Amino acid sequence: MALHTFLKANQQNLLGLQSDMQENSPSTPGKVKVERSNYLTRLTNRWYTTSLAWTKVLIWGFIFITLLAGFLFKLISTHKTVPLNTWGGLSWEKHVKHSCHTKRDGGLVVLVTGAAGFVGTHVSLALKKRGDGVLGLDNFNNYYDPSLKRSRQGLLERHGILVIEGDINDTLLLKKLFDLISFTHVMHLAAQAGVRYALENPGSYIHSNIAGLVAVFEACKSANPQPSIVWASSSSVYGLNTKVPFTEDDRTDQPASLYAATKKAGEEIAHTYNHIYGLSITGLRFFTVYGPWGRPDMAYYSFTKSILQGKPITIYQGANEVDLARDFTFIDDIVKGCLAALDTAEKSTGSGGKKHRPASLRVYNLGNTSPVSVPTLVDILEELLKVKAVRHVVKMPRNGDVPFTHANVTLAKTELGYNPTTDLQSGLKKFVKWYRNYHNEHEKM
Ligand SMILES: NC(=O)c1ccc[n+]([C@@H]2O[C@H](COP(=O)([O-])OP(=O)(O)OC[C@H]3O[C@@H](n4cnc5c(N)ncnc54)[C@H](O)[C@@H]3O)[C@@H](O)[C@H]2O)c1
Repeated sequence: MALHTFLKANQQNLLGLQSDMQENSPSTPGKVKVERSNYLTRLTNRWYTTSLAWTKVLIWGFIFITLLAGFLFKLISTHKTVPLNTWGGLSWEKHVKHSCHTKRDGGLVVLVTGAAGFVGTHVSLALKKRGDGVLGLDNFNNYYDPSLKRSRQGLLERHGILVIEGDINDTLLLKKLFDLISFTHVMHLAAQAGVRYALENPGSYIHSNIAGLVAVFEACKSANPQPSIVWASSSSVYGLNTKVPFTEDDRTDQPASLYAATKKAGEEIAHTYNHIYGLSITGLRFFTVYGPWGRPDMAYYSFTKSILQGKPITIYQGANEVDLARDFTFIDDIVKGCLAALDTAEKSTGSGGKKHRPASLRVYNLGNTSPVSVPTLVDILEELLKVKAVRHVVKMPRNGDVPFTHANVTLAKTELGYNPTTDLQSGLKKFVKWYRNYHNEHEKM
């Protein structure tokens, strides 16, 4: 089109020049040369001006088309790299359903929050191994090395368990999951763990342990049918309680850390959702859980690392130089307690967000019942690692730690059949074996 107009314009110029030639015909031969040369100059000038104008039109047209194409390309490629959601779509839904598939009659269908965490990984595997459907949810936060969480996710994937990357506060995601799957149970383990980190990042405890817990309860309350919920509270709710061993009806109104306060608040929030909406809720107060795939922020793990690297370890001492002691509980015993809590949980009694009759509300201690002092823990590690620790003993700072924990598990024994069987020596042996394998593999990479 542009070329056609261009040619037409040139044709008109030539016609114009012809009439110019006629009008300006010289009357005398002497003048001819001069007239001719003027005429040629004008002809050339006009040709030059017209061509220049059209060249400009073509260049600007070319630039415009290039910019437009660039813009359109960017628009398309932006849509490709930034999906609206990291979850959703037919293939995602297929994955979710496959992960929730049960392989035994009466198998549970469990949503495990915090599935890429230490306890979540073990509980998910145990459920899957006995034929239950399991779907994991975890936000893979970097409170400790997320590569360990990714390795656990890989392990779960190899066993047919999908762990969705998402936050428990994502209400749209939770709604989508509950629309897609009729979960019989929710094993809620996602939380901001650790006591000392609250000095650095208090908001993370509120985000996960308070707001997140409410978001999970809200989703469960609205689901139809409502699932039964088992969730992780903590021995830390006993706080400054001095009566030993700790029993479920002991005082829990003196938390020594923000972590403990959020777990205690969680127990009260659980009461509310049970009371108003008929959710069946079981809180488990875990006592210092340890074992393979454990948490690097915990003393037994970080001590192992430092001892092997020849670095000093800091051991806290309580008032009057009394050693701190913990009721260390091996992960396999905790898993048995979790599964027993799921199996014995009564059904929730609400529907459509309304309670129809009273529902079950339970709390159990899951501990080992035999506290061990921290220096003894180090003795055992030295023996297993065959390396002497460089001990740096200091007075316990006021950072949220309590001097000792000791569980009475009579209630869990009676009602859940809970019976811890692993002593610290045998449990740490399994941990050290895993630690060496895992870190040898990963440090090679
Ligand atoms: N390990 C123990 O000794 C112990 C003792 C008492 C209580 N607990 C409780 O048991 C549960 C499991 O503990 P753990 O030792 O496996 O800890 P963990 O940190 O290994 O596991 C918790 C997981 O939850 C995830 N998570 C945290 N906030 C989340 C959020 N907002 N949305 C989605 N995922 C989120 C984390 O990424 C992590 O993978 C926690 O509730 C913890 O408070 C543990």
